[in-house]
Amino acid sequence: MSDLGFLFDPKEVAVIGASASPQKIGYAIVSNLVKSGYKGKIYPINPRVKEILGLPCHPSIGEVEGPVDLAVIAVPAKYSIGVLQECGEAGVKGAIIITAGFKETGIEGLKLEQELQAVGQKYGMRLVGPNCVGLMDTHTPLNASFAAGFPEKGNISFISQSGAMVIAILDWSFQAGLGFSRFISLGNKSDLDESDFIESCAADPNTRVILVYAEDISDGEKFIRVCTTASRVKPIVILKSGTSEAGAQAASSHTGALAGSNLAYDTAFRQSGVLRTDDMSDLFNLGLAFSTQPLPRGNRVAIITNSGGPAIIATDAIEKSGLGMARFEKATIDQLRENLPAESNIYNPIDVLGDARVDRFLFALERSFEDENVDSVIVIFSPTAVSEPEKIADTILEQRKKYPHKPVFAVYMGGKTLAKGKAILVKGNVPTFTFPESAVKALEGISRYADFRQARDAAPQLPLPQVDRTIVKATFYDVIKDRRVLLMGHEASQVLDAYGIPVNRSYLATSVEEACQISQKIGFPVVLKISSPRIAHKTDVGGVEIGLHSRREVEKAYNRITERVNRFMPDAPIYGIEVSKMVDEGIEVIIGMSRDIQFGPMIAFGLGGIYVNLLQDVSFRLASSLNNRKAIEEMIAETKAFTLLKGYRGQKSADIDTLIDAIYRTARLVQDFEEITEMDINPLRVYSRGATGVDVKITISKPD
Ligand code: ACO
Repeated sequence: MSDLGFLFDPKEVAVIGASASPQKIGYAIVSNLVKSGYKGKIYPINPRVKEILGLPCHPSIGEVEGPVDLAVIAVPAKYSIGVLQECGEAGVKGAIIITAGFKETGIEGLKLEQELQAVGQKYGMRLVGPNCVGLMDTHTPLNASFAAGFPEKGNISFISQSGAMVIAILDWSFQAGLGFSRFISLGNKSDLDESDFIESCAADPNTRVILVYAEDISDGEKFIRVCTTASRVKPIVILKSGTSEAGAQAASSHTGALAGSNLAYDTAFRQSGVLRTDDMSDLFNLGLAFSTQPLPRGNRVAIITNSGGPAIIATDAIEKSGLGMARFEKATIDQLRENLPAESNIYNPIDVLGDARVDRFLFALERSFEDENVDSVIVIFSPTAVSEPEKIADTILEQRKKYPHKPVFAVYMGGKTLAKGKAILVKGNVPTFTFPESAVKALEGISRYADFRQARDAAPQLPLPQVDRTIVKATFYDVIKDRRVLLMGHEASQVLDAYGIPVNRSYLATSVEEACQISQKIGFPVVLKISSPRIAHKTDVGGVEIGLHSRREVEKAYNRITERVNRFMPDAPIYGIEVSKMVDEGIEVIIGMSRDIQFGPMIAFGLGGIYVNLLQDVSFRLASSLNNRKAIEEMIAETKAFTLLKGYRGQKSADIDTLIDAIYRTARLVQDFEEITEMDINPLRVYSRGATGVDVKITISKPD
């Protein structure tokens, strides 16, 4: 684990490039440190000035007596290497490099940044930035940044790749009443990246939820490893911007075309327990929800309202999300009936009517909190001439104290007349929204995370399958020697067979006699297919004959294929003719793989056949996650193909165990052989007993 205590709770901080001019960044950093109430030693470093803000200056860090944990560097880029070198020599443990002008500016800047990295590595000094705003910890307290202001103390950590976002969110947080434990500006991530900080914040006792704004993930594998562990302890919510689908467009396989980097991010986030949001307001709404509310024990929501319309909107949103409307216990319904006006709706949503004063809200709240069938509560309030927004807000806070184990959200639908009531709720740590959909979205997020935490008790891993790696290696060797990247049908079937993935083996015959012998060995009826790296569409050139029942039929078909191919494509190199068994009809599915640059191999499963891209009934998982039966079952169950496999309209159910094993082995194969860039088994025919891969396409990378 990265122990980053020297960044968040340093004993000494030096500011290199500290300035006495209030308009300079070097001044703002010293001033922020002082104003934040930082209790450690502050050493402003400036060769020309004697003191800054009453603190004595040192001409260089080398002149400081005693150790320095952290250096904040704000000198122009051209001096930064020398300054960092001095920090290393002085034994500084971590450096925040505020300075811009590195890789974000082009190749010269990149070289300069690489020099920074080299200096950091030489001295074992961890770097934040360059090109960043700095970082803050409200509990230390420490403001090692040039942002304008210091957040309210709280329990949200915000990690941002955009410096502007840090500054903007900080400013907004004051009016939103949001408290933070840490603010971290990542900058160019020359050394420490989002994963390092997620790990550190997960271990920070003052942080309850980790929010991340990321434009990219530096190291996919590390990210998944860190988040898989960290998300067991704390919720991580990410707003990921700037995903590109260019990779998907360039892909040649079905799977590759369906995948794409956005999907890889989605898959990686889900797999590692990270919640993803699409916009800033959701990111912070979720942050607020996690920071103030307990995790719900289930998905059943009660709504209390004084207005029908908004309650219907909320109910619709709940039905659409993974949440459900609670069904009250009989006792609750009876009590509501006895105590609320006859016109009230006593089933969920509870409508206490437009003339409701605080007493009716109180009663409905108490009953909802008491009801065992309710896991969380949303109070939706619209102002009327007789309503009491502030008193109702006070009541919500009181009840929340009495029932702290159930989350409560408020929707105060209005502006001016509700401002005071809203302020009471915000101050009292009840997430308060203007519209019901936002409340439902935030509640859905925390429920999803609660489900995830419950389901996380590690499923037992499947045993390592028996496989023959040597055959796969030898096959790839031959393909590369032949200057190809795409395997021929018989080669691909050999690879699958070596990994125990059910496949209809095909064998290459280079003569009529050999074709006959193979046919006899595998059993009639057989199929013959021309084998040539130049012929992709074999049927178009008459290169395929099916349903051959005897030696004689094979002989004739062999000669016919050879004659036709020679006629239509006289220049195509012919390797021979592939012989395989005719296979029975079955449920056609696809198992595929495409490799994401960030996160590695992704496995696809879904309805197979020629309409894969049209139907898009495909679920994706990172291959690394498919090491247990439960994960594979879930992947299959997500698709419509599963309905067919279970036995649709009286059909026999298919052999799902064999399918699970095939997916598991495919995931192993693509993890064992990084050179496989794309792969489709399409269709894989699944029967009531067993399965067979009919068409297999494997592409490997050229060797370096
Ligand atoms: N050791 C100590 N002090 C030094 C050294 C040194 N080796 N070299 C220079 N200094 C002093 C200077 O004398 C000066 O002090 P002074 O005011 O007493 O003269 C001080 O350090 C600053 O140096 P300047 O040359 O005045 O540089 P300036 O303050 O104009 O700019 C800065 C430095 C802020 C680092 C600039 O180069 C820069 O990178 N600006 C952009 C920062 C930024 O945007 N970062 C990304 C944030 S993310 C976002 O976009 C929001």
